Amino acid sequence: MNKNESLSVFVVGKGGREHALVHALAQSPLVGKLWCANGNPGIAATKLTTGRLVYCPTIEEHGELLATAVRERMDLTIFGGEEHLMAGLGDAFRIHGLNVFGPGYRGANLEGSKMYAQRFAERHGLPFAVGECFVSNMHDAFEYAESLDYRCVVKASGPCLGKGVKVCHNVSEVEEALRLMIVDRKFGTAGQNIVIQELLEGQELSLHILSDGVNWRLLPIAQDHKRLLGDNLGDMTGGMGTYSPHPTITTSDLEKIAAEIMPKFLEGCRRDSIVFQGVLFFGLMVTADGVKILEINVRFGDPEAQAILPRIKTDMVELLLATATGRLAEVPLEVYEDLATVNVVMVSAGYPGNYNKGFQITGIESAEKILGIKVYHAGTAIERGVLVTNGGRVLSVCSCARDLKTAHERAYHAVELIKFSGAYYRRDIGRQVRKATYDGYTPQLAPYRLQHE
Ligand code: AMP
Ligand code: GLY
Repeated sequence: MNKNESLSVFVVGKGGREHALVHALAQSPLVGKLWCANGNPGIAATKLTTGRLVYCPTIEEHGELLATAVRERMDLTIFGGEEHLMAGLGDAFRIHGLNVFGPGYRGANLEGSKMYAQRFAERHGLPFAVGECFVSNMHDAFEYAESLDYRCVVKASGPCLGKGVKVCHNVSEVEEALRLMIVDRKFGTAGQNIVIQELLEGQELSLHILSDGVNWRLLPIAQDHKRLLGDNLGDMTGGMGTYSPHPTITTSDLEKIAAEIMPKFLEGCRRDSIVFQGVLFFGLMVTADGVKILEINVRFGDPEAQAILPRIKTDMVELLLATATGRLAEVPLEVYEDLATVNVVMVSAGYPGNYNKGFQITGIESAEKILGIKVYHAGTAIERGVLVTNGGRVLSVCSCARDLKTAHERAYHAVELIKFSGAYYRRDIGRQVRKATYDGYTPQLAPYRLQHE
């Protein structure tokens, strides 16, 4: 790639993940204009190395996104979240000759339909959690759960904002989950079709792999903390914090896992007529019997992206453009192996349920004075010149340091400087890391029981 190129890059989305993407892309000297729709105040304040930020807070509607990309002759469009991909915007943009980081509708269905993902995995021999699909059939679903001793996970097939998964350990939990989805239609049509999987126990990992349709590149691993409360208790959330790398699961372990998954995955895509150009995010469980895939996502995880992207040394524009144009083999992936990240999510009181908005946020500037701290915005807004909360997930405080212990300590030092009414965060993000690294404790690969059992 010509290093003097001045490219127009378009990022669509408004969360912490998109802020982290914009921040990483902004470092690239290849960018002429970095367009962001619809963004957030953190994205709006991004400083670019060479190019100019074009912040478009009001562009949300699909037709308008496409019209903007066509009119401005975007060289690369990156959809941060799955919603636009599931709606087929990847296809719509490609039909207009645009380069897109993210799959078309068929590929996005791997995330949009858990039933499709389960069947895809079975047909193509991926190491997936064993499961069965049921179409509104309470009786058969119940029988299958019984065959698993009711230790299973009941999943609404369609998209439910992360709320359509019920982990069950006994008959009454199974009955409740099935009633909720099939009888009460709590998730509408998304819950009419369900997948029931065996309940797996172990360490959960977020494995991200770039795919240009033919070639693939393994990205740094991250571990999310999905439950609201410390020690993995409480409600399931979109993710309360992440860290990277993992203290005991090595890059070579991960390369072996990826090498088992990816040829089968790509062959499956070929057979199902999917050209997957974007990032695959496999939710993995490291069990006593080996590694199993729990789910396939077709975009970067949030808050995984915040912990992964700072560890990538390769120019992000070059890397994502190569992914979008089938040229990944030409771009070597370089990772800062000696850099560790710990990312703590700050949420509003009440999240993941109801919460209030509009509380003033202070302390970000002081937090960012700490070495290696970057605060990514998610649910924030500016009201009458003041930065306020505007969502359940408010900020991601990401700390980069030479080792996980330092990253962890600085992350929490930074978080303590940031204030807003009702601010909540987990205090144990990466705590296991500290134990593993500094107390001589090795928790990995030995299965541990889920906390609520
Ligand atoms: P999913 O949306 O399929 O990733 O499920 C959300 C969360 O539910 C995962 O991050 C896991 O914590 C849990 N989960 C999903 N499937 C399983 C499974 N088969 N066994 C144990 N936990 C699971
Ligand atoms: N952190 C989980 C997700 O992005 O789906």
